[in-house]
Amino acid sequence: MNAPVDPTRTAAWSELTTLRDSFSPDLRGWFAADPGRAERLSLPLADLHVDLSKNLVTDEVLAALLRLAEQTGVAERFQAMLSGSHLNTSEDRAVLHTALRRPAGASPALVVDGQDVDADVQSVLDALSAFADRVRSGDWLGVTGKKVTHVVNIGIGGSDLGPVMVYEALKPYADAGIHALFVSNIDPTDLAQKTAGLDPETTLFIVASKTFTTLETLTNARLARDWLWQGLAAAGAIDDSDEARTDAVAHHFVAVSTALDKVAAFGIDPANAFGFWDWVGGRYSVDSAIGLSLAIALGPDVFRDLLAGFHAVDEHVRTTELSRNVPVLMGLLNVWYNNFFGAQSHAVLPYAQQLSRFPAYLQQLTMESNGKSVRWDGSPVTTDTGEVFWGEPGTNGQHAFYQLIHQGTRLIPADFIAFVNPAYPLTDGGQDVHALFLANFLAQTKALAFGKTAEEVEAEGTTGALVAARTFPGNRPTTSIFASALTPQVLGQLIALYEHVTFTQGTIWGINSFDQWGVELGKQLAMQIAPAIEGDADAVAAQDPSTQALLEYYAANRK
Ligand code: F6P
Repeated sequence: MNAPVDPTRTAAWSELTTLRDSFSPDLRGWFAADPGRAERLSLPLADLHVDLSKNLVTDEVLAALLRLAEQTGVAERFQAMLSGSHLNTSEDRAVLHTALRRPAGASPALVVDGQDVDADVQSVLDALSAFADRVRSGDWLGVTGKKVTHVVNIGIGGSDLGPVMVYEALKPYADAGIHALFVSNIDPTDLAQKTAGLDPETTLFIVASKTFTTLETLTNARLARDWLWQGLAAAGAIDDSDEARTDAVAHHFVAVSTALDKVAAFGIDPANAFGFWDWVGGRYSVDSAIGLSLAIALGPDVFRDLLAGFHAVDEHVRTTELSRNVPVLMGLLNVWYNNFFGAQSHAVLPYAQQLSRFPAYLQQLTMESNGKSVRWDGSPVTTDTGEVFWGEPGTNGQHAFYQLIHQGTRLIPADFIAFVNPAYPLTDGGQDVHALFLANFLAQTKALAFGKTAEEVEAEGTTGALVAARTFPGNRPTTSIFASALTPQVLGQLIALYEHVTFTQGTIWGINSFDQWGVELGKQLAMQIAPAIEGDADAVAAQDPSTQALLEYYAANRK
C-alpha cells in the first residue's frame, strides 16, 4: 500500500489555507449576486436531490477542494476499494461492502484473491431469501408447530445498528405480520424488556455477530436460550432433556456470522446459519446476511430493493467526475469545515420520524471509521480527523438543541434529510400535516443560512438588549437531501452516500477507515475487571485507586 499523502503538504491545502484566511462567509450576498447558485450547487444522486448551495463555499473554494481530492488520490482509492485492494492494511483485508449489492449477473464477475465474490454473495442472498420466505409463509415453524410472529435480532454495533435503523425506517413495508425486535446491550434490562410479553413458541432468535466472539451478543444469546427453554418448559412444550432442548434451539435459533465453526459450537445448526466474509466491516454490513431480520420482517424483495439503492450510489461514485460526485463533494465540505473552520461536530437532522435511528447508525459508521490518530502506515495524522456526528429527527430537535446551532458560538454543519411524500398522509382540520412538517425543514435551513439582522429585528419593533438576543447571524452551513419518498431504494442510497462520504474524508486524512482498534482496550479491561466486581481480592488489588474505590462503592451498595 502506498504511503498516504500528507494533505497538509499539498498545494491545494496551501490554497485553501490562503482562501480561509481572507474568507468572509456571506450566503445572503452570494445568493443575491448569483441567481444560478441554487441550481448550480444542487446535484442529483440516484433518486436523491442534494442541495449543497447553503454551504460556506464559493466556486473558488470548491475548485481548491476538488484539487485536494485529486492530490490525495480520492478517485484512485475509490477504484482500489471497488476492485478489492487490501485497503484495510492493519488486518490485511479487502474492503468490499460494495460487492454485497452488485446485481446478479454483473459483468465482468468480481474475482478477488481468487474468490468469485459475486457468486458467493448471490449464493448467500439466495439462501437468505429462501429462508426468509419460509419464515414469512409459515413453512418454517417453531418447535410446537406454530408460525413465527416475532424475530429477535441479537447483535451489537454493526450487527445491530444497521438492522434496527432500517427496520424502523421501512416498517410501513412490513407485510407478513412478523415483528422484529433488537437486543444489543449487555445490560440485562435490554433482553428482559424486549422478551417480555413474547411467546417462546412463536419467537425466532437471530444471533448476529461477524466474529461470534462478542461478549454482549454471546451473553444475550445464552440468556435468550435460557428464556426459550424455560418458557417452552413452562408451557409443557418440552422437557429438560438434551434432545428436547437441542430441538428447541434448532427451531428457534439461527445465526449470521463469518465464523460458522463458532456458530456450531454454540449449538446452532450450521444449516441454519448464514455467512459473510471478513472483507465486510461490521459497520458496513447491514446489506450482508446481517440484514436477515429485515428480509424476514420486510421481505426479501424489499431487502433486494434496498441493495439496489446502495448499488445506484456505488455506480454514481464509480462513474461520476469528482466535480459532480456527491459523496466526494460532501466529504470535501466536511474536511473544509473540520480542518479550516475547526468544526468539531456535524449534525444529521432527518425530517422523518422513520429515520429516528439514522443518526445513531451514522455515529458508528463515521466515528468508528474515522476516529483515528494514526494513518494507514502507522504514522501520526497531520491534521484533525473524525468529527462527532449526532442528531435527532426534526422537529423534536428544534425544541431541544437547535438553539445552539442557530446562535451558539460553534460552527455546526448540518445535513437535513426530508421526503416529499409521507408514509402516513394525515390531515389536521384540512391541513396536510406532512406539508407543515416540511415547512419546518425549509424554514430551518433558511434561518440557518440567512439569519436575521439587527435591522430586521428592530424593524419589528424590538429595542435595547433584546435586539442582540433576537438577532440570528446566519451563515450556518447546511446540506439539504430531499427525495420523493422513503422507499427501500432511497434508504439504500442514503446509507451508501454516507459510507462514501466517510471514505472520502478518511482518504484525505490518510486513515484506514476499516479497522477499529480503539474499541479493544476497553473490552480487555472489562474481562480483567469482571472477577474484581464479583469480589476476587487479587483482581480488586490489581486495579488503580479510582477503580478500586468504585468497586468498593459497588460492593457496599449491592443488594
Ligand atoms: O465495537 C467493535 C465491533 O467490532 C464493531 O466494529 C462491530 O460492529 C461490533 O463490535 C460487533 O461485532 P460482531 O458483529 O463481531 O459481534
